[in-house]
Amino acid sequence: MNRPALEGLKLNTPAYVQHHRLVNWVAEVAALTEARDVVWCDGSQDEYDRLCAQLVAAGTMKKLNPELRPNSFLAVSDPSDVARVEDRTFICSAQREDAGPTNNWMAPAEMRALLQTSEQALFKGAMKGRTMYVVPFSMGPLGSHISHIGVELTDSPYVVISMRTMTRMGRGALDVLGEDGDFVPCVHTVGAPLAEGQQDVAWPCNKTKYIVHYPETREIWSYGSGYGGNALLGKKCFALRIASNMGRQAAAVDGTGWLAEHMLILGVTSPAGKKYHVAAAFPSACGKTNFSMLVPPAGYAGWKVTTIGDDIAWIKPGADGKLYAINPEAGYFGVAPGTNDLTNPNCMASLQRDTVFTNVALTDDGDVWWEGMTDTPPAHLIDWQGKDWTPAIAKETGAKAAHPNARFTVAATANPVLDAEWDNPAGVPIDAFIFGGRRSTTVPLATEARTWAEGVYMAATMGSETTAAMAGGNGAVRRDPFAMLPFIGYNMADYFQHWLNLGEQLGKKTPTLPRIYCVNWFRKGADGKFVWPGYGENMRVLEWIIGRLEGSASGADNVFGFSPRYEDLRWDGLAFSRAQFDSVIGIDKAAWQQELALHTDLFKTLEYHLPAALPATQQQITQRLSAAA
Ligand code: OXD
Ligand code: MN
Repeated sequence: MNRPALEGLKLNTPAYVQHHRLVNWVAEVAALTEARDVVWCDGSQDEYDRLCAQLVAAGTMKKLNPELRPNSFLAVSDPSDVARVEDRTFICSAQREDAGPTNNWMAPAEMRALLQTSEQALFKGAMKGRTMYVVPFSMGPLGSHISHIGVELTDSPYVVISMRTMTRMGRGALDVLGEDGDFVPCVHTVGAPLAEGQQDVAWPCNKTKYIVHYPETREIWSYGSGYGGNALLGKKCFALRIASNMGRQAAAVDGTGWLAEHMLILGVTSPAGKKYHVAAAFPSACGKTNFSMLVPPAGYAGWKVTTIGDDIAWIKPGADGKLYAINPEAGYFGVAPGTNDLTNPNCMASLQRDTVFTNVALTDDGDVWWEGMTDTPPAHLIDWQGKDWTPAIAKETGAKAAHPNARFTVAATANPVLDAEWDNPAGVPIDAFIFGGRRSTTVPLATEARTWAEGVYMAATMGSETTAAMAGGNGAVRRDPFAMLPFIGYNMADYFQHWLNLGEQLGKKTPTLPRIYCVNWFRKGADGKFVWPGYGENMRVLEWIIGRLEGSASGADNVFGFSPRYEDLRWDGLAFSRAQFDSVIGIDKAAWQQELALHTDLFKTLEYHLPAALPATQQQITQRLSAAA
């Protein structure tokens, strides 16, 4: 520990902080990073407003026209810092096998040398000339038995204001922590120390990036990026990578453990007033936010969909054998492009005020715009890189006004269809899981797994065409088991086993496990256009799922699982022909032979600890496919 640097540095610890381990750790990191000063965040509105004003003065954010978008801001990142960096993300478990073949791995001692302990360690002096903010936060409702506490130390005020929106941040979290509570330590720096008198840039970051997780000690160290999941460490780093480890490790203690999943959670209430809860996993930018805020179409009077979460679910078994879910987050960090009054009116309503937009375009009257917001773009904009943009320029150069991964950050409480139970510390009971990738061919619109193991197979072999949410996303299909490929904090095959074990254990306590479904909204026709209208029309599939749970909806056995027939969905208010339906539900034998070969490739990659139930299920599917006409 670099004691000399601490001399003269006041930790400014407020009197209400009584947690000595926390204070010592803050002192250690302040010394290591040589932060100029330390500020403890209380999560108040005053603090938020002050930091926003500071970010505006620094040129990181612009205040939007208060008449059009009250209390809202536009932040523009460095053009090199626009997405999560999967190739710079590491799981540093003691054993390489525990990180598994889908994660980057480095031995903990080697990584610590690189980041913390060697002469040239990246975190040494990394916060010089900057304030280090202490950001206590709760993932999940304060005090819930499903929630956990983290503390992020960061030199980015943009991260602080984002964490206030995205988590329950501030004094409340410290109160839960008390004098000796456990917390996940999260250290973040933009990696851009300032020399005496050096002028700062609007979006400090570093070309070198490391997003590092130590699962055994439950620590997160993030270097070089100020953006999204790289920097808001409560989200992907804690709520998925570290929490997935916590959930699995808990199984050794209580026999079941719990789940940290890349899932939205929604409530769906039928006209009869019966309410169900569904958790659904889709890869990044496949419409989780839209699905969680779905507006039922005309003809569905009396149906209501309400949002509990749009990205992450923590799910723990109750004594009754049911699975109870909370949204560990308190806000939405969603993809803006493509969001509009038709695709997601509830989201658009949420963004009317109190929102921070990142990397969208600025209109001449001080509002925001992004591709897909309106059919006709404004005649002139300042694009996300600060350049003039007109439809003519876009036509000529292909320049996008907003970055394809441009985001909004807004509190969940702004959502007009927020579920009344969203903050319930007890969570909501999950009735069904849905898994869905973006597949233009092969995978049917909807399929119900016949057994828990078949559902785990569907989720494990899920594939999706890549998108802008990941750096380098270009439309190729990649296997994304459980939509967790970038987010699982341990060996993927062990994760499959954890799901299988959980089902087995719960099955001993309850006759009705949640049912598992696989959906695909994205099949395309010969003309290259999506066949299924998606968005609100996905309610038809949701209604079928509810019907299955209630025992009233029928279907037919499929090669894998059980799918609706044309007559099993309700078509009121939608012109969708039987031929169109056939083209989104059908199983193409040749395509499935290829698909199963790709599953074999996946299983080869995940051979170490691969549960036998998966190849066994594959064999059954292969046999059914051979028998099919
Ligand atoms: C996200 C993602 O930001 O999945 O939610 O990339
Ligand atoms: Mn996500």
